[in-house]
Amino acid sequence: MLKINDIDVYYGNIQALRGLSIEVNEGEIVTLIGANGAGKSTLLKTISGLLKPKKGSIEYLGSSIDGKPAQTIVKCGISHVPEGRRVFSNMTVEENLELGAYLRKDRDGIKKDMEHVYELFPRLLERRKQLSGTLSGGEQQMLAMGRALMSKPKLIILDEPSMGLAPLMVKNIFNIIEMINKEGVTVLLVEQNANMALSVAHRAYVLETGSIVLSGTAKELQESEEVKAAYLGGL
Ligand SMILES: Nc1ncnc2c1ncn2[C@@H]1O[C@H](COP(=O)(O)OP(=O)(O)OP(=O)(O)O)[C@@H](O)[C@H]1O
Ligand SMILES: [Mg+2]
Repeated sequence: MLKINDIDVYYGNIQALRGLSIEVNEGEIVTLIGANGAGKSTLLKTISGLLKPKKGSIEYLGSSIDGKPAQTIVKCGISHVPEGRRVFSNMTVEENLELGAYLRKDRDGIKKDMEHVYELFPRLLERRKQLSGTLSGGEQQMLAMGRALMSKPKLIILDEPSMGLAPLMVKNIFNIIEMINKEGVTVLLVEQNANMALSVAHRAYVLETGSIVLSGTAKELQESEEVKAAYLGGL
């Protein structure tokens, strides 16, 4: 579904991704784990068209998407849930969800999808008239995911959804990621919480200083001594 081939990405003179290649197959949950500054967010921003690779290619469903504007990429079915949620604080929950459907014209479909988001996240339904800035961190994460679903994505890319959340909420968020995937949405998940990410993923990549250093099935990486020592708290 998504094929990233040998990309280099820079911020000015600073190189953030080096010859990075990954693949995501339709129906999978693929996770990318890596420490602070490894380049995880940079990769997601490059996929969603916020950054352009200097070298290499990004193919999505057989067409090249690198260098395309972000709105075109959303229209193609890729939706980005950014690090730190980035909800529109002074708008209500419902208004944030409506904005997620900004590029769509099918009113009936939008209404149905909004109802579905409220089924997935009953907490958002209870708070639909509340200003988003007053939601808890976990609720804002739910809203950011709901907003992304409102564009009817085929591929959802999630940047550290568990960041700053209490263990119970983390579990809740990961359960919902699995539910969304079972409903047919392919997932690319970036996480520092390697334990949780590997427990839901089918396959995984490890990113260090802008390059992939390890890849395999989630199970293989869970059992890898290297991964255990560096990312699973040495357990
Ligand atoms: N806007 C920017 N300008 C210059 N350098 C940047 C910019 N954004 C990120 N970088 C650099 O690019 C590298 C990768 O950053 P990135 O945000 O992709 O890491 P990350 O893996 O998402 O880290 P974290 O886990 O802390 O979110 C880092 O060295 C960072 O300092
Ligand atoms: Mg990041």
